[in-house]
Amino acid sequence: MSDEKQPTDRRDFLLKLGAGAGVAAITVQAGASLRSLVPNVSYDAPTTVKLGPPNDFPDGLKFLPDERVLVFREGNTFHAISAVCTHLGCTVRAEALPNPQTTEAAGAPLRLTHRFLCPCHGSEYKGDGTNVAGPAPKPLAWFRLSFAADDGQLVIDLADEVDRDFRLTLG
Ligand code: FES
Repeated sequence: MSDEKQPTDRRDFLLKLGAGAGVAAITVQAGASLRSLVPNVSYDAPTTVKLGPPNDFPDGLKFLPDERVLVFREGNTFHAISAVCTHLGCTVRAEALPNPQTTEAAGAPLRLTHRFLCPCHGSEYKGDGTNVAGPAPKPLAWFRLSFAADDGQLVIDLADEVDRDFRLTLG
């Protein structure tokens, strides 16, 4: 009697083994498919950019076309304003004021040396970035500046907007 059952037992065993292998293969394939949906690297551009040593920035305004920012230096203090128009994103153009003036921005004194004009649809901004004419819905952004710990370069964080009283002072 046990001789008759042997082929059936072997068949059952092989069927179970095959089914188990199939489930394992499907599980591995499903895992690989899900993993392929998650990229191994981030393609987001870095938001922190080294701009160069502070001495590369003369007193006044320096426009950085790659970052589309305007970096201002007054003595040992720096601040940076976005050159991206808040209407539809064109790059604003800086125009020197015939008579620079000192004003207050967010409670801190600020020397205004320029105003900013958008060539696309005519928006105008004061030297502190405040929108004063045209379709621009809000002021130009100010970004956080810092000095790199390793080489002392000026660093901007294009994802970190700051209030208009922000200043970075060279120690
Ligand atoms: S993009 Fe600057 S006014 Fe339209």
